[in-house]
Amino acid sequence: SDRPRVLSGIQPTAGSFHLGNYLGAVRQWVALQETHDAFYAVVDLHAITVPQDPAGLREATRLAAAQLLGAGLDPERCTLFVQSHVPEHTQLAWVMNCLTGFGEAGRMTQFKDKSAKVGAEHTSVGLFTYPVLQVADILIYQADEVPVGEDQRQHIELTRDVAERFNSRYGKTFTVPAPHITKGAAKIYDLQDPQIKMSKSASSPKGLVNLLDPPKTTAKKIRSAVTDTGTEVRFDRETKPGVSNLLTIHSALSGIAVPELEEKFAGRLYGALKAEVADVVVGWTTPFRERVEHYMSDPAELDRLLARGAEKARVVAAATTAEAYDKVGF
Ligand code: ADP
Ligand code: NA
Repeated sequence: SDRPRVLSGIQPTAGSFHLGNYLGAVRQWVALQETHDAFYAVVDLHAITVPQDPAGLREATRLAAAQLLGAGLDPERCTLFVQSHVPEHTQLAWVMNCLTGFGEAGRMTQFKDKSAKVGAEHTSVGLFTYPVLQVADILIYQADEVPVGEDQRQHIELTRDVAERFNSRYGKTFTVPAPHITKGAAKIYDLQDPQIKMSKSASSPKGLVNLLDPPKTTAKKIRSAVTDTGTEVRFDRETKPGVSNLLTIHSALSGIAVPELEEKFAGRLYGALKAEVADVVVGWTTPFRERVEHYMSDPAELDRLLARGAEKARVVAAATTAEAYDKVGF
């Protein structure tokens, strides 16, 4: 394929994806299938950097894959696989570990945040080298671009640095990837606290729209979203973060531009906006949930599909790893 290649991954630990995962990431993955040679991984190796129950992890990995399929990834148009099914990721990661400085890894802010939260005694070495495994995940596919959120930018910089280091030490081997800041990716905020982003770990249950929640739960959460004491439906992140978040969600799912929505809701109260946002969200999540249930109802077929994805991924991963190992002197 002469299309630019992209690689992206999502952790299986989330259970249900939330609206931010879809509108900020997964929806762009679906679009990139049409223009790019796209590799998408459920990154279960990354998941065990914190303790996981084995049966729970296996189920969560299937559920993540089912949700990616339910959101529109098509195994005929992209390579969808589970990271642990491609052992070359860890083989290449060792080389990358040896090319990454201890201090360099120590500067990763996501590690500092995560380890501070659980304390040094409960921080695994795996959590420390997580960004280096991510370096291998990306470089092993010779990815040209990596669609990422702002929170991952530092890891992409590390990936570029390590790729350049390898190339200058051993000769040109790896494509140096660029971050792909996707058009149309929306940042979604917590419904109860629209100053923070909607997040599995930081949001309260009422602030988080899980894509697999029953429609009634979703509608109720949206109708209870925090707004402000005014009445005017207008997009203004500074003074109306709650209303702006609802307009963003509506626009992203309905395709109606925000100014048009402002016009539509002129002279109407927040309740009318919330009711319509609830309808728009439930209108999308209902068929999504049915598709996910369909994939989850046949785990053997899902496993076969993921095995085919891993086979496709391994063709590239094995070739890159063989070349890198040869260059290193193995
Ligand atoms: P969480 O923050 O809930 O743990 P992850 O960190 O697992 O979510 O993110 C998975 C993907 O979803 C990433 O690409 C991330 O940038 C994106 N994402 C997560 N939360 C949001 C949000 N509130 N708005 C937009 N994108 C988001
Ligand atoms: Na996160």
